[in-house]
Amino acid sequence: MAKLKLAVLISGRGSNLQALMAACAEPAYPAEIVLVISNHAEAKGIKWAGDANLPTLAINHKDFSNRADFDRKMTAAMNDAGVELVCLAGFMRLLSEEFVTYWRNRLINIHPSLLPAFKGLNVQARAITAGVKFSGCTVHYVRNEMDVGPIICQAVVPIHMDDDADALAARILVQEHIIYPQAVRWIAEKRISINDEKVDLDKPIQSDGSMINPMD
Ligand code: GAR
Repeated sequence: MAKLKLAVLISGRGSNLQALMAACAEPAYPAEIVLVISNHAEAKGIKWAGDANLPTLAINHKDFSNRADFDRKMTAAMNDAGVELVCLAGFMRLLSEEFVTYWRNRLINIHPSLLPAFKGLNVQARAITAGVKFSGCTVHYVRNEMDVGPIICQAVVPIHMDDDADALAARILVQEHIIYPQAVRWIAEKRISINDEKVDLDKPIQSDGSMINPMD
């Protein structure tokens, strides 16, 4: 069966890109990366992708007078590459309404909190400050409002009393690298449907187990 063609959009480190690259390297994985785009030419992920012989494109947003033009450039490149699903992976730019509408239900994001809690930036520090006992990560379809959209999958991690933002971010990142390739696989396998802005998964394995943190 033909593999689902992915674009991965990054701005920096690119560890989620690497997790997707590792998944795509498995022969049975039903998706392939056909383009990596960064708005920073020096993003580490661009180098890794290039080293792995993936097509890469660095587009400097500062070369564009407005957001929509920058986004149109990305859309044109992705269409040329035959992209079917756009994966935001630490892409730290707001997207134009035109772009989000054009790629509707073909555009997903990973965010390091349990949405709808802690949208936006510095979410690990904000979770610690709020005193919540769990956080995690979310893979979701992208809508025009930031960090809003049908949720495909979430992973939960405990917050420890001595955590700082970096320790929590590292614990969450381990889970990001698991659930992002998993969510992409479900989409490639056509097991996902969106009904009333909620995602249903065909043949899910569901758990009734609880997690309690801290414990006595
Ligand atoms: C990840 O933690 C991702 O969830 C987050 O940026 C990091 C990128 O890391 N994304 C957001 O905060 C988007 N709102 P990476 O470049 O190593 O994949």
